[in-house]
Amino acid sequence: MNSSQKGKTPGQSAVVTRYLVMPDQANPSGTAFGGVIMGWIDMVAAMAAQRHCEKEVVTVSCDSINFRSPIYIGDQVILKASVNYVSHTSMEVGVLVTKENPITGKNARATTAHLTFVALDQNKKPTPVIPILPESDNEKRWYKNAELRVKARKELLKKIKLGDHNE
Ligand SMILES: CC(C)(COP(=O)(O)OP(=O)(O)OC[C@H]1O[C@@H](n2cnc3c(N)ncnc32)[C@H](O)[C@@H]1OP(=O)(O)O)[C@@H](O)C(=O)NCCC(=O)NCCS
Repeated sequence: MNSSQKGKTPGQSAVVTRYLVMPDQANPSGTAFGGVIMGWIDMVAAMAAQRHCEKEVVTVSCDSINFRSPIYIGDQVILKASVNYVSHTSMEVGVLVTKENPITGKNARATTAHLTFVALDQNKKPTPVIPILPESDNEKRWYKNAELRVKARKELLKKIKLGDHNE
């Protein structure tokens, strides 16, 4: 596969991986430290973005992260990342984090996140990305939702960029 293609489906670049939560990755109450989960999310999302565009990528923003239920020491953590939407040089990637108790087999959605990555050329400058071609009903829904988020983010950035010292 290479970037001369007209585009790729989200499934062609999706990444699924699994980690075990160890005691040194937990906070004093015995649940996974949020920063560890965020690091895993960034890594798996970056790999999906890179598989899509076949270029160097950098995280430009972590747009949302929702910790929906605690993950415990000994839980297995399954991370699924796929490209939701492509603009010009940037890609929005969605990550679904599921926790699984390996003894009972019980699993539940633990965390969801959206991140934006930018593809870079050999001079480390933003460079265009091939289109994303959503195929399944879910992929089409993720694309439409991501499009709304991307547009809203761009509008917001335009409005606050001039005045806010954090931007
Ligand atoms: C990513 C980076 C190259 C973008 O540079 P830039 O000068 O802002 O480039 P542009 O203004 O041309 O924007 C490039 C794209 O990023 C998007 N973008 C920029 N800031 C953004 C933000 N805060 N949130 C979401 N998207 C953003 C733009 O909308 C544009 O997307 P598009 O081409 O698809 O429309 C630059 O900000 C950078 O190097 N950041 C550091 C990245 C990094 O070190 N990450 C952490 C480790 S991987």
